[in-house]
Amino acid sequence: MTEAELYIKYKGVYLSKSMNPPQSLKYFEDFTLGPDDIIIATYPKSGTHWMQHIVGLVLNGGDPTSVDTVHNWKRAPWLEQTSMIAFNLEERPSPRVFSTHFHHNMMPLSFFDVNPKVIYVMRNPKDVFTSYFHFHEAPFLVKPGSSSEFLHKFLNGKVSYGSWFDHVKSWLNAENKQHIMYISYEELSADLKASVAKVAEFLEKRLDDEVMEKIAEKCLFENMKENKIFHSEVVSKYLDHTKFFRKGVVGDWKNLLAAEEAEHFDAVYTDKMKDVEYTFVWD
Ligand code: A3P
Repeated sequence: MTEAELYIKYKGVYLSKSMNPPQSLKYFEDFTLGPDDIIIATYPKSGTHWMQHIVGLVLNGGDPTSVDTVHNWKRAPWLEQTSMIAFNLEERPSPRVFSTHFHHNMMPLSFFDVNPKVIYVMRNPKDVFTSYFHFHEAPFLVKPGSSSEFLHKFLNGKVSYGSWFDHVKSWLNAENKQHIMYISYEELSADLKASVAKVAEFLEKRLDDEVMEKIAEKCLFENMKENKIFHSEVVSKYLDHTKFFRKGVVGDWKNLLAAEEAEHFDAVYTDKMKDVEYTFVWD
C-alpha cells in the first residue's frame, strides 16, 4: 500500500492512519498534562522501549514486578497513539509516565503550561535509519522498498513521524530546557549503570548503588528481549517482538549502507544540522 493509503499528514508530518486515528489526535490535543508527569520523547527506533523500562524500574526503586507484569505500552503509553484512550490516563496516580514520538512543537497546549519532565532519547540517525528500515515490515507502515529507496524517504522526512532532523532540532531548541534531560542510545550502550544514575537523579529518586546495578542488569538487551511481557499477543498483533528487540547494537548501519550512501547521508546531515550547537556523541 502507498503513503496516500496508509498515512495522513498531521501538522506537516506523516503519521500512520491506523496508529494515529483522528480520535486519538483529538484526545491528545485536549489532554491535560500535569507538572508531575514524565514524558519519554523519542524519534522512533531511538531506544524508547529501553528508556520506558529504565524509568519503570527507577520509579519503583528497582522492584521488577511492574516491568515484568505490565507491558511498557500500558505503563508508559504513547500520548498520540490509539492505546491512549483505552488506558484511563486521567485517573492514574502521579507520577504518570507517557511516551511520545511527536516533535516538540506538536505537543498539546497543556504541555507548554506545566512543563512536565521530559527525557529525550536520541540515537545516531544512521542507526535509526537502519532500525527503522527493518521495522517497516509492520503492516501499518508503507513497505520500505530497497535500502536506497528508504534512505531517500528517510532523509526527506517522508516516513511516519516525519524528519529525524526536524524532530531532534525541535527538542534541542525547546524553551525551558531545564525540564528536559537529553541522553543518547549510545550513552545507554556505553555505560548503562551511569545512565540509570542520570535518570534517577533527573527524576529525583535516591537509589543505592546495588539497586542501580540491578536495574542496569535488568535492562540489558538480552534480558529485556527475554522478558515474557514483550512476547504477549498485543505485541505480535502489530509485529513480532524480535522487531522491537532486533540487534541492540551501535553501528549496525555499516551492514546496510553502502559507502557512497553513507557519504550522502553524512553530507545531508552536515547541511541540515549546521546550525545545531549540541555535541552529539556520534559526531
Ligand atoms: P535495533 O533495531 O537497531 O536493534 P524503539 O524502542 O525506540 O522502537 O527502539 C528500538 C531499538 O532499540 C531497536 O534497535 C532495539 O533492538 C533497541 N533496543 C531495545 N531495547 C534495548 C536494550 N535493552 N539494549 C540495547 N538496544 C535495545
